[in-house]
Amino acid sequence: MKTTTDFMKMKEMNEKVTMVTAYDYPAAKIAEQSGIDMILVGDSLGMVVLGYDSTVPVTLEDMIHHTKAVKRGAPNTFVVVDMPFMTYHLSSQETLKNAARLLQETGADAVKVEGANNVIPMIRSLTEAGVPVMAHLGLTPQSAGVLGGYKVQAKTAEQGLKLTRDAIECQKAGAFAVVLECIPQQITEQVTSQLAIPTIGIGAGVQSDGQVLVYHDLIGYGDYKLAKFVKQYTNVYASIGEALEQYIEEVRTGQFPSEGHSFNLKEEERVALYG
Ligand code: KIV
Ligand code: NA
Repeated sequence: MKTTTDFMKMKEMNEKVTMVTAYDYPAAKIAEQSGIDMILVGDSLGMVVLGYDSTVPVTLEDMIHHTKAVKRGAPNTFVVVDMPFMTYHLSSQETLKNAARLLQETGADAVKVEGANNVIPMIRSLTEAGVPVMAHLGLTPQSAGVLGGYKVQAKTAEQGLKLTRDAIECQKAGAFAVVLECIPQQITEQVTSQLAIPTIGIGAGVQSDGQVLVYHDLIGYGDYKLAKFVKQYTNVYASIGEALEQYIEEVRTGQFPSEGHSFNLKEEERVALYG
């Protein structure tokens, strides 16, 4: 399994870090088998798996439940778990308690928190307590209500410089990596060149040290509209739909189950049954 120091080394060596989200056992298993560097149990769980319209309703219990399944599927991959909405803001004591549950009850390797400012002291507390922290700047979905929706962030030089300063603060507080979401690629380049820790981009151009995508977006497992920055590598939603339609048709017409999918009594038992 790769570790936080391996990710730093990868940055030094100019090797891209690959990351994908997963929320259950089969997805984690296939991600590990495919050779991914890191898995994120994102609170995007709320939208792509649980059917909420934001990440805000996702609870600590939800994250624990799904991360346990992910870790069972990918025991040899570095797993990062999102701290859900409002579980790392009230006090550093609450934050530490919640992070401890996330790591101890699931076997996850690190937590991710969104934002800078008041979150910086939390990153420091967590790191000092032995919890590896991934930061997350730019579009921070837990604050979509404050940001006025899901939009490109840091669109001016001034906002870009603020984001760069925030990223440096995250690094100083002990973060081992930082996700940059939905920002102009020129800002990503600036931030990435200023940091010793790797930047993991999503909707942030190719200049980051790594990339992350949401599993369901990447494989086309949903019928929702995709963001501009998503590349859909396949469309399993369509394949699953076709398979289910065929199944329904075959059950209705008696084509399924066939002889090959059925069991038979031995001849003497058949005789006994029919008399
Ligand atoms: O929850 C999530 O999937 C994320 C990624 C988009 C970085 O936070
Ligand atoms: Na998230």
